[in-house]
Amino acid sequence: MTSTSRQAASTSLPIGSDADLARVRQQVRQVGAELGFGLVQLTKLVTAASELARNTLVHGGGGHVEITPLDNGQDRGLRLSFVDTGPGMRDVELAMTDGYTTGGGLGLGLSGAKRLVHELTIDTAPGRGTTVTAVAWNSVLPSNRPGTA
Ligand SMILES: Nc1ncnc2c1ncn2[C@@H]1O[C@H](COP(=O)(O)OP(=O)(O)OP(=O)(O)O)[C@@H](O)[C@H]1O
Ligand SMILES: [Mg+2]
Repeated sequence: MTSTSRQAASTSLPIGSDADLARVRQQVRQVGAELGFGLVQLTKLVTAASELARNTLVHGGGGHVEITPLDNGQDRGLRLSFVDTGPGMRDVELAMTDGYTTGGGLGLGLSGAKRLVHELTIDTAPGRGTTVTAVAWNSVLPSNRPGTA
């Protein structure tokens, strides 16, 4: 941590049921609003969180999310880490491809979530589980910046 970045305590929420998914969405919306995210940014953040939490439940067999408020001295943001100890992914790039699914979904959750936040990183290995970490700031999100798709 540098002198210009501060980090508040994180909150951990379980992801083991549809009711948990609703609680995760609710908590992310509330913390994002407290950090000054506007309505559009908040909707993007909650949509990304919802997709990633659903993956933790459906593909990872359940787990938890760590919600950490961030402050870099200029903007405030959130780091969301979705953690499971499920089967992991063999090919992260393939999993990030639009339309790729092993579960009969649309295959748009991961790739869509990446476009809705500033950073998305995946730490996974077959048999070891998966941690997907998303970071979003309350400044204008990437897809709203001029010159980006
Ligand atoms: N936590 C996870 N553990 C293991 N595999 C995962 C995990 N998250 C995603 N994957 C793999 O990545 C693929 C793509 O995920 P993505 O969310 O894009 O699509 P999906 O969940 O299959 O469908 P949907 O469009 O409904 O989200 C999944 O089908 C699955 O194989
Ligand atoms: Mg999905």
